[in-house]
Amino acid sequence: MRERLSMDKDWLFHLGDIAIPAQNSHKAVYGNAKAGGLTGAASVEWNDNEWETVNLPHDWSYRQPFDREGGVPDFGYKPRGIGWYRKKFKLSPSDNGKQLLLEFDGIATHATVYLNGSILERSFCGYTSFVVDITDRVFYGDRPNLLVVKADASVSEGWWYEGAGIYRHVWLTKKNALSIAHRGVWVNPVKLDGESWLTNVETTITNEREEEARFELLSRVVRADGEVVAEEISAGVAKAGEAIVLKQELPLVSPLLWDVDSPHLYRLESILLEDDERCDGANTSFGYRTITICPDKGFYLNGRRLKIKGTCNHQDHAGIGVALPDHVHEYRILRLKQMGSNAYRCAHHNPAPELLDACDRLGMLVMDENRNFDSSPEGLRQVENMVTRDRNHPSVVFYSLYNEEPLQGTPIGRNMFKRMKEAVLRLDNTRPILGAMNGGVMEDEGTVDVMDIAGFNYMHGGYDRFHEKHPGQPMIGSETVSAFATRGNYISDTGLQFFDSFDREKANWGNTARESWQAINTRDFMMGTFVWTGFDYRGEPTPYEWPSVSTHFGILDTCGFPKDSYYLYQAFWLDEPVVHIAGGWNWPGKEGELVTVMAHTNCEEVALYVNGELRYRENVDIYEQRQWEILYEPGTLRLEGYRNGKLVGVDEKITPGAPCSLRVEASKPALLGDGRDAVVVNVYAIDAEGRFVETANSLVAFSIEGSGVILGAGNGNPNSQEPDHLQERRLFNGCLQLIVGSNAGSDTITLTLQGEGLQAVAHAIPVESVEEPPYVPSVHERYINNWLLTQDIALQRPDPNVEIHPTDMNSWEKVDVSFGPQQMLQGAEGYVIYRSSIALTERERSSNPYLYFHAVSGDSEIYVDGKLLAKQASPWPMTVEVSLDGVELGEETVLSVLVGIKPDMYKPGINGAVSMGLRQG
Ligand code: GAL
Repeated sequence: MRERLSMDKDWLFHLGDIAIPAQNSHKAVYGNAKAGGLTGAASVEWNDNEWETVNLPHDWSYRQPFDREGGVPDFGYKPRGIGWYRKKFKLSPSDNGKQLLLEFDGIATHATVYLNGSILERSFCGYTSFVVDITDRVFYGDRPNLLVVKADASVSEGWWYEGAGIYRHVWLTKKNALSIAHRGVWVNPVKLDGESWLTNVETTITNEREEEARFELLSRVVRADGEVVAEEISAGVAKAGEAIVLKQELPLVSPLLWDVDSPHLYRLESILLEDDERCDGANTSFGYRTITICPDKGFYLNGRRLKIKGTCNHQDHAGIGVALPDHVHEYRILRLKQMGSNAYRCAHHNPAPELLDACDRLGMLVMDENRNFDSSPEGLRQVENMVTRDRNHPSVVFYSLYNEEPLQGTPIGRNMFKRMKEAVLRLDNTRPILGAMNGGVMEDEGTVDVMDIAGFNYMHGGYDRFHEKHPGQPMIGSETVSAFATRGNYISDTGLQFFDSFDREKANWGNTARESWQAINTRDFMMGTFVWTGFDYRGEPTPYEWPSVSTHFGILDTCGFPKDSYYLYQAFWLDEPVVHIAGGWNWPGKEGELVTVMAHTNCEEVALYVNGELRYRENVDIYEQRQWEILYEPGTLRLEGYRNGKLVGVDEKITPGAPCSLRVEASKPALLGDGRDAVVVNVYAIDAEGRFVETANSLVAFSIEGSGVILGAGNGNPNSQEPDHLQERRLFNGCLQLIVGSNAGSDTITLTLQGEGLQAVAHAIPVESVEEPPYVPSVHERYINNWLLTQDIALQRPDPNVEIHPTDMNSWEKVDVSFGPQQMLQGAEGYVIYRSSIALTERERSSNPYLYFHAVSGDSEIYVDGKLLAKQASPWPMTVEVSLDGVELGEETVLSVLVGIKPDMYKPGINGAVSMGLRQG
């Protein structure tokens, strides 16, 4: 049966490039030109004993120190470079005959994937998920497989922090030779008349066998409560090596619709049967919903008009770079939902698959975007990858093919766009396709009129002009706003590079939140907005550079702590009353001075009180809001919101006392002890009454006990150069965040936090005992495989340590002992020599190394650097262990095995894996 195993655990990692060793001998050049013969870090023999052990997702970039001189502001001054990963793993002999697929969800940036000494794939986009079929090249049994990834992040694709390394999950799927193809199910429900739907299902079945196969495919639509609501069975035949597509149509009346408020999901169970026996199965999550776009009224979801209230976001998060545990995606999407947002633009690249899962579950529409505007075969491959991966997600409602491309208004851009669009339509013709333009919109020969929607980045002033010229073309604010704010800060300071939070600071090309929402919301033909950005992100610290290392654009900071504009958007986007005071009420030394206070509200009328005294009672225009300069006096600032003269909401800010402790809030009540889960832990400075102290910036040290690990910490300060992986961090304007990951286990986690001058706090997080999801463990022995075997069977006993001439490719043959015995030796009589050499490190030489021969048959003598260390006479395969303890070993150790063979011996020679282990100490 199909298995999908995590490959995230236990990789060996080396930071920095490893040059391929110089090939200046005929032997080396000749060997390197052969399948499986790569030398260097991709070779089985490469010594990785000193490499660091890491788990995925892994991003090495943010863990490096900030580099002001050599660093680039766009990348947040973090070095990138090149890194190598190795994972050795075994496959059971029973896997032989299955189809084996490795799935890489994302590697930054250019990646080369090697398996057992050959290159199996190259990836040219850090955001594209790709699959590698490794079936042909794997070993079963004792011999470990060596998977190597070279991640080259010295190339960049964006102008933001992109991270470096295998920063998303890796999976190994084992399935039958006759099975459902990878991404082989497409569920495309179509609404008919009334409440009737047709669930169109296309399933690709691959037959990797050497003979024809007959099968049946049972497809079942299953509701969330487990009820099967539709099913269909179809028969098919696939010739040897063929992939065939079966189309099925499953009618259903009145399904529960997927909507942003009630995101009902269904599951398509695909069951492949051969002779009535189940031989494969796949589950695909999907939803029933319709989308329609219209040039006058914008976007409709399930026939209901919906203004797109979206944000653009990059993928990094505080403390962990781009290596996000799945829960952090959920945390982020939930934050945006709570703001009233209904749409997410994956700027400017494909997201992690788990982000789309979260959007499906939580009811968030998605503009899925590809990274490279490129109509070359490679560019089209990237686009196709996006579509085949993402088209089952009901949340995905738009595909964006580019962002701000200089060719956008030109005939060349037009050709490229058309070709890329065709590539999408061949695979999915159900979503509107656009590009996000920052110019060229009025050009007749550009890309705009071959788009389904004109995507406007900024350019507010051009909305009406364009609509007049193209009244039939739907329009969207694919990128808007670009306002600046610093969380919890109320005075802009160019010296400190902080912004106030009164929605008045913005980029030259941008607008305030209020200007932008007014421009969008007052035009029915504007489908909606995607605000730049939901979350702050590392890099692009516009308009500043060092010491700013993150942006100031976010509505939330890098941790997801809301800035005041968060409540402004709530006021715009939620129906329920929102009443929020923007501005601090903790200004020691400023008593009697004027300070700015602002109302963020969707109430028609507000009243502002200072210490019980009414200062203002005024109407509020939603697009203007209200701002006052008032004399500061410590105490209570109270804002009341009225609708139809009725009090409907209140916000209060009370001047806090000195910070004395910390309040800790976890994003969920318990962590799963599965080694994969995570929880976001928010920490707030509080005074003796438990009131939040927004001005606290003290250093907090923390530690963890139990089944968890602190993956990183952040505080949302765009100008902080504190490392994220230390066990201490400053509060920034009262807040701090830890990302806690689960270790497999169930011991309650206790976080202890000690802030400078604050009371220590212990916070418990229960860990639920759950089974660890299946994964592929790593093998940690060093494998010796570069064996040469004498071609002739000598009748006279040869010198086992005879020299091999460097140009001699013919009297010695390269053999792979792990495949079993060499058949030429069976039934023969005489002597052969096996020869190999390994380079040992200082640490290995001093760690009591030993050699382990999994199977040797014959009269064998094992020599190490010319010295006889073991002898074994056996007419059938036996293991041999050779201790190297106390043996004087050079850096290059030569192994020679002389085997005496007789005709009646069974499988003579070395016929199994040879490994080297270490006995420390
Ligand atoms: C846009 C661009 C974004 C970001 C933003 C900052 O032009 O598409 O990636 O750079 O500007 O305002």
